[in-house]
Amino acid sequence: MPTAPESGSPSPTTAQREWWRDAVIYQIYVRSFADSNGDGEGDLPGIRERLPELAELGVDAVWLTPFYVSPLADGGYDVADYRGVDPRFGTLADFDDLTATAHELGLRVIIDIVPNHTSSAHRWFAEAVAAEPGAPARSRYIFRPGRGPDGDEPPNNWESIFGGPAWTRLKRPDGTPEEWYLHLFDPEQPDLDWTRQEVHDEFDDVLRFWLDRGVDGFRIDVAHGLVKDPGLPDIPEGQKAGLLNGTNRLPYFDQDGVHEIYRRWSAIADSYPGERALVAEAWVEDAQRVARYLRPDELHQAFNFEYLNAEWDSDVLRQVIDGSLAANGVVGAPTTWVLSNHDVTRHVTRFGGGEDGLRRARAATLLTLALPGSAYLYQGEELGLPEVTDLPDDALQDPTWERSGRTERGRDGCRVPLPWEGSEPPFGFGPDGTVPWLPVPAEWAGLTREAQREDPDSTLSMYTAALRARRGFAALGDGALTWIDAPPGVLAFRREPGFACAINLSEDEAVLALTGELLLASGKVELRGGALVLPADTTAWLSIGY
Ligand code: GLC
Repeated sequence: MPTAPESGSPSPTTAQREWWRDAVIYQIYVRSFADSNGDGEGDLPGIRERLPELAELGVDAVWLTPFYVSPLADGGYDVADYRGVDPRFGTLADFDDLTATAHELGLRVIIDIVPNHTSSAHRWFAEAVAAEPGAPARSRYIFRPGRGPDGDEPPNNWESIFGGPAWTRLKRPDGTPEEWYLHLFDPEQPDLDWTRQEVHDEFDDVLRFWLDRGVDGFRIDVAHGLVKDPGLPDIPEGQKAGLLNGTNRLPYFDQDGVHEIYRRWSAIADSYPGERALVAEAWVEDAQRVARYLRPDELHQAFNFEYLNAEWDSDVLRQVIDGSLAANGVVGAPTTWVLSNHDVTRHVTRFGGGEDGLRRARAATLLTLALPGSAYLYQGEELGLPEVTDLPDDALQDPTWERSGRTERGRDGCRVPLPWEGSEPPFGFGPDGTVPWLPVPAEWAGLTREAQREDPDSTLSMYTAALRARRGFAALGDGALTWIDAPPGVLAFRREPGFACAINLSEDEAVLALTGELLLASGKVELRGGALVLPADTTAWLSIGY
Protein backbone atom coordinates (compact mmCIF):
# COMPACT_ATOMS: atom_id res chain seq x y z
CA MET A 1 0.00 0.00 0.00
CA PRO A 2 1.41 3.41 -0.86
CA THR A 3 1.80 5.69 2.12
CA ALA A 4 -0.85 8.41 2.15
CA PRO A 5 0.97 11.66 1.37
CA GLU A 6 0.59 13.26 4.79
CA SER A 7 0.56 10.12 6.88
CA GLY A 8 3.30 10.01 9.42
CA SER A 9 4.98 13.04 7.87
CA PRO A 10 6.52 15.38 10.36
CA SER A 11 4.05 17.77 11.97
CA PRO A 12 2.41 20.66 10.10
CA THR A 13 4.19 23.21 12.28
CA THR A 14 7.53 21.89 11.06
CA ALA A 15 6.17 21.79 7.55
CA GLN A 16 5.15 25.46 7.56
CA ARG A 17 8.75 26.46 8.11
CA GLU A 18 9.79 25.10 4.72
CA TRP A 19 11.66 22.24 6.28
CA TRP A 20 14.50 22.18 3.74
CA ARG A 21 15.70 25.65 4.78
CA ASP A 22 17.70 24.27 7.67
CA ALA A 23 17.50 20.51 7.22
CA VAL A 24 20.45 18.18 7.55
CA ILE A 25 19.99 15.63 4.80
CA TYR A 26 21.88 12.36 4.87
CA GLN A 27 22.76 10.79 1.53
CA ILE A 28 22.35 7.03 1.40
CA TYR A 29 24.23 5.30 -1.40
CA VAL A 30 21.76 2.43 -1.50
CA ARG A 31 24.12 -0.23 -2.84
CA SER A 32 26.62 0.34 -0.02
CA PHE A 33 24.56 1.16 3.06
CA ALA A 34 23.26 -2.12 4.50
CA ASP A 35 22.60 -5.49 2.90
CA SER A 36 19.68 -7.41 4.44
CA ASN A 37 19.84 -10.57 2.33
CA GLY A 38 23.55 -11.26 2.00
CA ASP A 39 23.81 -10.86 -1.78
CA GLY A 40 26.63 -8.35 -1.30
CA GLU A 41 24.61 -5.29 -2.33
CA GLY A 42 22.84 -2.92 0.02
CA ASP A 43 19.05 -2.86 -0.24
CA LEU A 44 15.89 -1.08 0.90
CA PRO A 45 15.05 -3.49 3.78
CA GLY A 46 18.66 -3.07 4.98
CA ILE A 47 18.16 0.69 5.06
CA ARG A 48 14.83 0.40 6.86
CA GLU A 49 16.39 -1.69 9.63
CA ARG A 50 19.13 0.88 10.15
CA LEU A 51 16.96 4.01 10.05
CA PRO A 52 16.74 4.24 13.85
CA GLU A 53 20.51 4.73 13.87
CA LEU A 54 20.15 7.71 11.54
CA ALA A 55 17.40 9.13 13.72
CA GLU A 56 19.77 8.69 16.66
CA LEU A 57 22.47 10.53 14.71
CA GLY A 58 20.00 13.39 14.44
CA VAL A 59 19.53 14.02 10.72
CA ASP A 60 16.24 15.40 9.38
CA ALA A 61 15.97 13.57 6.09
CA VAL A 62 17.54 10.90 3.96
CA TRP A 63 18.25 11.08 0.24
CA LEU A 64 18.32 7.69 -1.47
CA THR A 65 20.44 7.28 -4.60
CA PRO A 66 18.69 5.41 -7.46
CA PHE A 67 17.23 2.01 -6.56
CA TYR A 68 15.24 1.65 -9.79
CA VAL A 69 15.42 -1.25 -12.23
CA SER A 70 18.83 -0.85 -13.83
CA PRO A 71 21.71 -2.79 -15.38
CA LEU A 72 23.92 -0.70 -13.02
CA ALA A 73 26.22 0.39 -15.85
CA ASP A 74 26.60 3.64 -13.88
CA GLY A 75 25.63 2.49 -10.40
CA GLY A 76 21.89 2.89 -11.07
CA TYR A 77 22.07 6.31 -12.76
CA ASP A 78 21.08 4.29 -15.81
CA VAL A 79 17.40 3.66 -15.21
CA ALA A 80 15.53 1.00 -17.17
CA ASP A 81 12.18 1.44 -15.37
CA TYR A 82 11.46 4.62 -13.42
CA ARG A 83 8.52 3.10 -11.59
CA GLY A 84 10.10 -0.15 -10.47
CA VAL A 85 12.58 -1.17 -7.77
CA ASP A 86 15.50 -3.28 -8.98
CA PRO A 87 15.13 -6.78 -7.48
CA ARG A 88 18.68 -6.42 -6.10
CA PHE A 89 17.44 -3.54 -3.96
CA GLY A 90 14.01 -4.89 -3.01
CA THR A 91 10.43 -4.30 -4.06
CA LEU A 92 7.95 -1.44 -4.17
CA ALA A 93 6.46 -2.80 -0.95
CA ASP A 94 9.92 -2.51 0.64
CA PHE A 95 10.07 1.10 -0.53
CA ASP A 96 6.68 1.82 1.04
CA ASP A 97 7.77 0.17 4.30
CA LEU A 98 10.97 2.20 4.33
CA THR A 99 9.07 5.46 3.75
CA ALA A 100 6.55 4.63 6.46
CA THR A 101 9.29 3.78 8.97
CA ALA A 102 11.22 6.94 8.10
CA HIS A 103 8.14 9.07 8.64
CA GLU A 104 7.41 7.36 11.96
CA LEU A 105 10.93 8.28 13.02
CA GLY A 106 10.43 11.89 11.89
CA LEU A 107 12.75 11.51 8.89
CA ARG A 108 11.81 12.82 5.45
CA VAL A 109 12.65 10.83 2.33
CA ILE A 110 14.12 12.34 -0.84
CA ILE A 111 14.72 10.17 -3.87
CA ASP A 112 16.81 10.63 -6.99
CA ILE A 113 15.25 11.29 -10.37
CA VAL A 114 17.37 10.84 -13.48
CA PRO A 115 15.79 12.79 -16.35
CA ASN A 116 18.77 13.58 -18.60
CA HIS A 117 19.14 10.03 -19.86
CA THR A 118 17.65 6.58 -19.52
CA SER A 119 19.43 3.26 -19.53
CA SER A 120 19.97 1.71 -22.94
CA ALA A 121 17.94 -1.16 -21.43
CA HIS A 122 14.87 1.12 -21.13
CA ARG A 123 11.89 0.04 -23.27
CA TRP A 124 12.00 3.38 -25.12
CA PHE A 125 15.57 2.86 -26.22
CA ALA A 126 14.87 -0.70 -27.38
CA GLU A 127 11.99 0.70 -29.47
CA ALA A 128 14.23 3.45 -30.83
CA VAL A 129 16.90 0.97 -31.91
CA ALA A 130 14.32 -1.28 -33.55
CA ALA A 131 12.77 1.67 -35.47
CA GLU A 132 13.96 3.27 -38.68
CA PRO A 133 15.77 6.64 -38.75
CA GLY A 134 13.19 9.42 -38.52
CA ALA A 135 10.57 7.20 -36.84
CA PRO A 136 8.71 8.65 -33.82
CA ALA A 137 10.26 6.03 -31.53
CA ARG A 138 13.68 7.52 -32.30
CA SER A 139 12.61 11.07 -31.56
CA ARG A 140 12.59 10.47 -27.79
CA TYR A 141 16.41 10.38 -27.95
CA ILE A 142 18.98 12.42 -29.86
CA PHE A 143 19.81 10.47 -33.01
CA ARG A 144 21.72 12.11 -35.87
CA PRO A 145 23.49 10.98 -39.06
CA GLY A 146 27.28 10.97 -38.84
CA ARG A 147 29.61 13.41 -40.53
CA GLY A 148 32.01 12.61 -43.37
CA PRO A 149 31.27 10.90 -46.69
CA ASP A 150 30.30 7.60 -45.04
CA GLY A 151 28.79 9.15 -41.94
CA ASP A 152 31.46 7.45 -39.90
CA GLU A 153 32.46 10.52 -37.92
CA PRO A 154 30.36 11.57 -34.91
CA PRO A 155 27.80 14.35 -35.55
CA ASN A 156 29.86 16.77 -33.45
CA ASN A 157 32.93 16.85 -31.23
CA TRP A 158 31.26 16.54 -27.82
CA GLU A 159 32.96 14.23 -25.37
CA SER A 160 31.43 11.96 -22.76
CA ILE A 161 31.99 13.03 -19.16
CA PHE A 162 33.40 9.55 -18.60
CA GLY A 163 35.85 9.81 -21.51
CA GLY A 164 35.69 9.17 -25.26
CA PRO A 165 33.15 10.58 -27.72
CA ALA A 166 29.65 11.46 -26.53
CA TRP A 167 28.21 9.65 -29.58
CA THR A 168 27.87 5.97 -30.39
CA ARG A 169 26.92 4.63 -33.79
CA LEU A 170 24.12 2.11 -34.13
CA LYS A 171 24.54 -1.00 -36.23
CA ARG A 172 21.77 -2.99 -37.83
CA PRO A 173 21.62 -6.70 -36.94
CA ASP A 174 23.46 -7.47 -40.21
CA GLY A 175 26.28 -5.15 -39.15
CA THR A 176 25.43 -2.18 -41.42
CA PRO A 177 26.26 1.03 -39.55
CA GLU A 178 23.59 3.70 -39.37
CA GLU A 179 22.73 6.74 -37.13
CA TRP A 180 24.58 7.93 -34.04
CA TYR A 181 23.01 8.67 -30.66
CA LEU A 182 24.11 11.15 -28.02
CA HIS A 183 25.21 10.12 -24.52
CA LEU A 184 26.84 12.75 -22.35
CA PHE A 185 27.72 9.92 -19.96
CA ASP A 186 28.18 6.21 -20.72
CA PRO A 187 27.01 4.71 -24.06
CA GLU A 188 24.54 2.80 -21.89
CA GLN A 189 22.98 6.15 -20.87
CA PRO A 190 21.40 7.64 -24.03
CA ASP A 191 20.29 11.29 -23.60
CA LEU A 192 16.58 11.99 -23.88
CA ASP A 193 15.30 14.66 -26.25
CA TRP A 194 13.57 17.21 -24.02
CA THR A 195 12.12 19.06 -27.02
CA ARG A 196 9.54 16.23 -27.17
CA GLN A 197 6.28 16.66 -25.29
CA GLU A 198 6.13 12.91 -24.67
CA VAL A 199 9.30 13.12 -22.61
CA HIS A 200 7.84 15.92 -20.48
CA ASP A 201 4.62 13.99 -19.96
CA GLU A 202 6.46 10.85 -18.96
CA PHE A 203 8.48 12.60 -16.25
CA ASP A 204 5.44 14.49 -14.95
CA ASP A 205 3.89 11.11 -14.47
CA VAL A 206 6.99 9.58 -12.86
CA LEU A 207 7.11 12.47 -10.36
CA ARG A 208 3.46 11.90 -9.50
CA PHE A 209 4.01 8.17 -9.13
CA TRP A 210 6.52 8.72 -6.31
CA LEU A 211 4.80 11.76 -4.81
CA ASP A 212 1.69 9.61 -4.51
CA ARG A 213 3.77 7.09 -2.56
CA GLY A 214 4.68 9.78 -0.05
CA VAL A 215 8.19 10.94 -0.97
CA ASP A 216 9.16 14.31 0.46
CA GLY A 217 11.20 15.40 -2.52
CA PHE A 218 13.56 14.66 -5.38
CA ARG A 219 17.22 15.21 -6.03
CA ILE A 220 17.39 15.99 -9.74
CA ASP A 221 20.34 14.33 -11.42
CA VAL A 222 22.26 16.48 -13.96
CA ALA A 223 19.54 19.12 -13.61
CA HIS A 224 21.44 21.52 -15.85
CA GLY A 225 21.80 19.10 -18.76
CA LEU A 226 18.34 18.31 -20.08
CA VAL A 227 18.15 20.97 -22.78
CA LYS A 228 20.78 21.17 -25.51
CA ASP A 229 21.52 23.99 -27.93
CA PRO A 230 19.31 22.89 -30.85
CA GLY A 231 22.11 23.30 -33.38
CA LEU A 232 24.30 20.82 -31.44
CA PRO A 233 27.34 22.99 -32.29
CA ASP A 234 30.93 21.83 -31.93
CA ILE A 235 32.62 23.12 -28.82
CA PRO A 236 35.95 24.93 -28.86
CA GLU A 237 38.92 22.60 -28.72
CA GLY A 238 39.93 21.57 -25.22
CA GLN A 239 36.64 22.45 -23.53
CA LYS A 240 35.00 19.58 -21.82
CA ALA A 241 32.94 19.37 -18.68
CA GLY A 242 34.22 17.28 -15.85
CA LEU A 243 32.00 15.85 -13.16
CA LEU A 244 31.25 18.61 -10.65
CA ASN A 245 33.17 21.05 -12.77
CA GLY A 246 30.90 23.55 -14.39
CA THR A 247 33.37 26.26 -15.22
CA ASN A 248 32.86 26.16 -18.98
CA ARG A 249 29.78 27.39 -20.79
CA LEU A 250 28.84 24.47 -22.97
CA PRO A 251 26.02 23.96 -25.52
CA TYR A 252 24.73 21.00 -23.53
CA PHE A 253 24.68 22.52 -20.05
CA ASP A 254 22.79 25.31 -18.32
CA GLN A 255 20.67 26.27 -21.33
CA ASP A 256 17.83 28.68 -20.58
CA GLY A 257 15.19 26.14 -21.60
CA VAL A 258 15.77 23.94 -18.53
CA HIS A 259 14.12 26.50 -16.27
CA GLU A 260 10.74 26.01 -17.96
CA ILE A 261 10.89 22.34 -17.00
CA TYR A 262 11.47 23.13 -13.34
CA ARG A 263 8.67 25.67 -13.21
CA ARG A 264 6.39 22.88 -14.24
CA TRP A 265 7.89 20.40 -11.77
CA SER A 266 7.61 22.94 -9.01
CA ALA A 267 3.89 23.33 -9.72
CA ILE A 268 3.49 19.56 -9.59
CA ALA A 269 5.31 19.32 -6.25
CA ASP A 270 3.26 22.22 -4.86
CA SER A 271 0.04 20.52 -5.83
CA TYR A 272 0.72 17.88 -3.16
CA PRO A 273 0.03 18.29 0.55
CA GLY A 274 2.98 18.69 2.89
CA GLU A 275 6.09 20.38 1.58
CA ARG A 276 7.86 18.51 -1.20
CA ALA A 277 11.38 19.66 -1.93
CA LEU A 278 13.20 19.74 -5.27
CA VAL A 279 16.98 19.75 -5.16
CA ALA A 280 19.19 20.43 -8.17
CA GLU A 281 22.42 18.74 -8.98
CA ALA A 282 23.55 21.57 -11.23
CA TRP A 283 27.26 22.02 -11.78
CA VAL A 284 27.18 25.35 -13.47
CA GLU A 285 29.54 28.22 -13.72
CA ASP A 286 29.11 30.11 -10.46
CA ALA A 287 26.79 30.82 -7.56
CA GLN A 288 24.74 33.31 -9.59
CA ARG A 289 24.05 30.74 -12.29
CA VAL A 290 23.14 28.16 -9.63
CA ALA A 291 20.74 30.64 -8.01
CA ARG A 292 18.76 30.88 -11.26
CA TYR A 293 17.55 27.33 -10.54
CA LEU A 294 16.28 28.55 -7.17
CA ARG A 295 14.04 31.39 -8.25
CA PRO A 296 10.76 31.37 -6.31
CA ASP A 297 8.82 29.35 -8.88
CA GLU A 298 11.60 26.83 -9.56
CA LEU A 299 13.58 24.48 -7.33
CA HIS A 300 14.14 24.75 -3.58
CA GLN A 301 17.80 23.88 -3.20
CA ALA A 302 20.94 23.16 -5.17
CA PHE A 303 24.12 21.50 -4.04
CA ASN A 304 26.87 23.98 -3.33
CA PHE A 305 29.73 22.42 -5.27
CA GLU A 306 31.81 25.58 -5.04
CA TYR A 307 31.98 24.95 -1.31
CA LEU A 308 32.78 21.28 -1.81
CA ASN A 309 35.55 22.17 -4.25
CA ALA A 310 37.01 24.99 -2.14
CA GLU A 311 40.61 24.74 -1.02
CA TRP A 312 41.58 24.52 2.66
CA ASP A 313 42.23 28.24 2.82
CA SER A 314 40.48 30.87 4.91
CA ASP A 315 40.29 33.52 2.16
CA VAL A 316 38.95 31.09 -0.41
CA LEU A 317 36.38 29.68 2.01
CA ARG A 318 35.22 33.09 3.15
CA GLN A 319 34.77 34.19 -0.44
CA VAL A 320 32.77 31.07 -1.30
CA ILE A 321 30.61 31.42 1.81
CA ASP A 322 29.88 35.10 1.19
CA GLY A 323 29.32 34.52 -2.53
CA SER A 324 26.90 31.63 -1.94
CA LEU A 325 24.89 33.49 0.68
CA ALA A 326 24.68 36.61 -1.46
CA ALA A 327 23.64 34.78 -4.64
CA ASN A 328 20.99 32.72 -2.86
CA GLY A 329 19.83 35.74 -0.92
CA VAL A 330 18.91 37.50 -4.16
CA VAL A 331 16.38 34.77 -4.99
CA GLY A 332 15.35 34.14 -1.37
CA ALA A 333 16.64 30.56 -1.38
CA PRO A 334 18.48 28.81 1.44
CA THR A 335 22.11 27.93 0.86
CA THR A 336 23.25 24.33 1.17
CA TRP A 337 26.65 23.14 2.31
CA VAL A 338 28.19 19.84 1.28
CA LEU A 339 31.62 18.28 1.69
CA SER A 340 31.25 14.83 0.15
CA ASN A 341 29.02 12.71 -2.05
CA HIS A 342 29.19 9.54 -4.14
CA ASP A 343 31.00 11.30 -7.00
CA VAL A 344 33.99 12.80 -5.22
CA THR A 345 36.97 11.71 -3.15
CA ARG A 346 35.92 11.57 0.51
CA HIS A 347 36.91 14.78 2.26
CA VAL A 348 39.16 13.15 4.89
CA THR A 349 41.36 12.14 1.95
CA ARG A 350 40.86 15.38 -0.01
CA PHE A 351 42.09 17.31 2.99
CA GLY A 352 45.33 15.33 3.11
CA GLY A 353 44.38 11.91 4.50
CA GLY A 354 45.64 10.29 7.69
CA GLU A 355 45.45 12.20 10.94
CA ASP A 356 45.81 15.58 9.25
CA GLY A 357 42.98 14.82 6.88
CA LEU A 358 40.72 13.62 9.66
CA ARG A 359 41.48 16.64 11.82
CA ARG A 360 40.63 18.99 8.98
CA ALA A 361 37.56 16.99 8.01
CA ARG A 362 36.22 17.25 11.56
CA ALA A 363 36.93 20.98 11.61
CA ALA A 364 35.25 21.40 8.22
CA THR A 365 32.19 19.54 9.47
CA LEU A 366 31.68 21.87 12.41
CA LEU A 367 32.10 24.85 10.08
CA THR A 368 29.58 23.36 7.64
CA LEU A 369 26.99 22.67 10.31
CA ALA A 370 27.29 26.19 11.74
CA LEU A 371 26.71 28.01 8.44
CA PRO A 372 23.29 29.46 7.60
CA GLY A 373 21.09 27.06 5.67
CA SER A 374 20.90 23.35 5.09
CA ALA A 375 23.62 20.70 4.99
CA TYR A 376 24.10 17.45 3.13
CA LEU A 377 26.05 14.61 4.72
CA TYR A 378 27.31 11.62 2.76
CA GLN A 379 27.05 8.22 4.40
CA GLY A 380 30.20 7.28 6.26
CA GLU A 381 31.51 10.80 6.76
CA GLU A 382 30.07 10.67 10.28
CA LEU A 383 32.51 7.78 10.85
CA GLY A 384 35.41 9.76 9.40
CA LEU A 385 35.84 7.24 6.60
CA PRO A 386 38.67 7.94 4.17
CA GLU A 387 38.60 7.22 0.44
CA VAL A 388 39.67 3.65 -0.36
CA THR A 389 42.46 4.26 -2.83
CA ASP A 390 43.76 0.72 -3.26
CA LEU A 391 40.74 -1.21 -4.54
CA PRO A 392 41.93 -4.03 -6.79
CA ASP A 393 41.63 -3.20 -10.50
CA ASP A 394 39.27 -6.08 -11.12
CA ALA A 395 36.87 -4.81 -8.44
CA LEU A 396 36.39 -1.42 -10.08
CA GLN A 397 32.93 -0.81 -11.51
CA ASP A 398 32.78 2.91 -12.27
CA PRO A 399 32.47 3.33 -16.07
CA THR A 400 35.19 6.00 -15.86
CA TRP A 401 37.78 3.24 -15.37
CA GLU A 402 37.20 1.51 -18.72
CA ARG A 403 36.15 4.64 -20.65
CA SER A 404 39.35 6.44 -19.69
CA GLY A 405 41.40 3.51 -20.96
CA ARG A 406 42.07 2.47 -17.34
CA THR A 407 43.83 5.72 -16.53
CA GLU A 408 41.25 7.17 -14.14
CA ARG A 409 40.15 4.87 -11.35
CA GLY A 410 36.82 6.63 -10.89
CA ARG A 411 34.49 6.94 -7.94
CA ASP A 412 34.36 3.46 -6.38
CA GLY A 413 36.71 4.48 -3.56
CA CYS A 414 34.00 6.59 -1.93
CA ARG A 415 31.33 3.93 -2.48
CA VAL A 416 32.79 1.13 -0.36
CA PRO A 417 30.15 -0.51 1.90
CA LEU A 418 29.72 0.97 5.36
CA PRO A 419 31.26 -0.67 8.43
CA TRP A 420 28.64 -1.14 11.15
CA GLU A 421 29.98 -3.49 13.81
CA GLY A 422 32.27 -6.40 14.66
CA SER A 423 35.95 -6.87 14.02
CA GLU A 424 36.07 -8.52 10.59
CA PRO A 425 35.21 -7.09 7.15
CA PRO A 426 32.56 -6.41 6.02
CA PHE A 427 31.72 -5.34 9.57
CA GLY A 428 28.02 -6.12 9.70
CA PHE A 429 27.29 -4.66 6.26
CA GLY A 430 25.35 -7.87 5.62
CA PRO A 431 24.55 -11.14 7.39
CA ASP A 432 27.51 -13.39 8.29
CA GLY A 433 29.32 -14.64 5.20
CA THR A 434 28.31 -11.69 3.00
CA VAL A 435 30.82 -10.91 0.27
CA PRO A 436 30.28 -7.20 -0.42
CA TRP A 437 30.26 -5.85 -3.99
CA LEU A 438 33.41 -3.87 -3.17
CA PRO A 439 35.90 -5.14 -0.57
CA VAL A 440 35.87 -3.35 2.79
CA PRO A 441 39.34 -2.61 4.24
CA ALA A 442 40.30 -4.53 7.39
CA GLU A 443 41.72 -1.25 8.80
CA TRP A 444 38.18 0.00 9.25
CA ALA A 445 37.72 -2.16 12.39
CA GLY A 446 38.21 0.90 14.59
CA LEU A 447 35.86 3.02 12.48
CA THR A 448 32.67 0.98 12.80
CA ARG A 449 29.60 2.68 14.21
CA GLU A 450 29.72 0.26 17.11
CA ALA A 451 33.34 1.08 17.91
CA GLN A 452 32.63 4.82 17.85
CA ARG A 453 29.27 4.98 19.56
CA GLU A 454 30.50 4.93 23.16
CA ASP A 455 33.68 6.90 22.58
CA PRO A 456 33.03 10.57 23.41
CA ASP A 457 35.98 11.68 21.27
CA SER A 458 34.95 9.75 18.18
CA THR A 459 33.92 11.43 14.95
CA LEU A 460 30.49 9.84 15.29
CA SER A 461 30.05 11.36 18.75
CA MET A 462 31.08 14.76 17.38
CA TYR A 463 28.50 14.56 14.58
CA THR A 464 25.79 13.42 17.01
CA ALA A 465 26.57 16.24 19.43
CA ALA A 466 26.67 18.81 16.61
CA LEU A 467 23.33 17.72 15.23
CA ARG A 468 21.81 17.76 18.70
CA ALA A 469 23.14 21.29 19.29
CA ARG A 470 21.83 22.36 15.88
CA ARG A 471 18.35 21.31 16.89
CA GLY A 472 18.61 22.87 20.32
CA PHE A 473 20.16 26.17 19.34
CA ALA A 474 17.81 28.65 17.66
CA ALA A 475 20.74 30.50 16.11
CA LEU A 476 21.73 27.52 13.96
CA GLY A 477 20.16 26.55 10.65
CA ASP A 478 18.47 29.21 8.53
CA GLY A 479 19.40 32.85 9.12
CA ALA A 480 22.34 35.20 8.74
CA LEU A 481 25.94 35.34 9.92
CA THR A 482 28.15 38.20 11.02
CA TRP A 483 31.91 37.89 10.64
CA ILE A 484 34.05 38.62 13.68
CA ASP A 485 37.58 40.01 13.38
CA ALA A 486 40.05 37.15 13.52
CA PRO A 487 43.79 36.60 12.99
CA PRO A 488 45.02 35.59 9.51
CA GLY A 489 44.01 32.05 8.62
CA VAL A 490 41.08 32.07 11.04
CA LEU A 491 37.41 32.51 10.25
CA ALA A 492 35.02 33.46 13.01
CA PHE A 493 31.37 34.48 12.92
CA ARG A 494 28.35 35.04 15.10
CA ARG A 495 24.91 33.67 14.61
CA GLU A 496 22.11 35.30 16.57
CA PRO A 497 21.09 34.76 19.22
CA GLY A 498 24.21 34.01 21.17
CA PHE A 499 26.28 31.62 19.06
CA ALA A 500 29.80 31.86 17.64
CA CYS A 501 31.91 29.55 15.50
CA ALA A 502 35.64 29.87 14.88
CA ILE A 503 37.82 27.74 12.61
CA ASN A 504 41.59 27.88 12.40
CA LEU A 505 42.76 26.97 8.90
CA SER A 506 46.33 28.08 9.50
CA GLU A 507 49.25 25.88 10.46
CA ASP A 508 49.76 27.57 13.83
CA GLU A 509 47.81 27.85 17.02
CA ALA A 510 45.59 30.95 17.01
CA VAL A 511 44.31 33.07 19.86
CA LEU A 512 41.02 34.96 19.48
CA ALA A 513 39.45 37.47 21.80
CA LEU A 514 36.28 35.45 22.25
CA THR A 515 34.66 34.29 25.44
CA GLY A 516 31.62 32.30 26.30
CA GLU A 517 30.79 28.73 27.03
CA LEU A 518 32.39 26.08 24.89
CA LEU A 519 29.65 24.01 23.30
CA LEU A 520 31.63 21.71 21.07
CA ALA A 521 34.99 21.49 19.34
CA SER A 522 36.54 19.34 16.67
CA GLY A 523 39.79 19.03 18.67
CA LYS A 524 41.36 20.22 21.88
CA VAL A 525 40.61 23.91 22.40
CA GLU A 526 40.92 26.10 25.48
CA LEU A 527 39.18 29.16 26.83
CA ARG A 528 41.90 31.02 28.69
CA GLY A 529 41.74 34.50 30.23
CA GLY A 530 39.09 35.93 27.91
CA ALA A 531 40.52 34.26 24.81
CA LEU A 532 39.86 31.20 22.72
CA VAL A 533 42.97 29.18 21.96
CA LEU A 534 42.46 27.21 18.76
CA PRO A 535 45.05 24.69 17.54
CA ALA A 536 45.65 24.40 13.78
CA ASP A 537 42.83 22.81 11.75
CA THR A 538 40.32 23.04 14.57
CA THR A 539 36.82 24.46 14.94
CA ALA A 540 35.00 25.52 18.11
CA TRP A 541 31.36 26.33 18.79
CA LEU A 542 30.62 28.75 21.61
CA SER A 543 27.57 30.00 23.35
CA ILE A 544 28.37 33.70 23.79
CA GLY A 545 25.37 35.09 25.64
CA TYR A 546 22.68 37.36 24.36
C1 GLC B 1 25.26 12.56 -11.59
C2 GLC B 1 25.46 11.49 -10.57
C3 GLC B 1 26.56 10.60 -11.03
C4 GLC B 1 26.18 10.01 -12.37
C5 GLC B 1 25.83 11.08 -13.37
C6 GLC B 1 25.13 10.51 -14.57
O1 GLC B 1 26.36 13.39 -11.67
O2 GLC B 1 25.68 12.05 -9.31
O3 GLC B 1 26.82 9.59 -10.10
O4 GLC B 1 27.25 9.25 -12.86
O5 GLC B 1 24.93 12.01 -12.82
O6 GLC B 1 23.84 10.15 -14.27
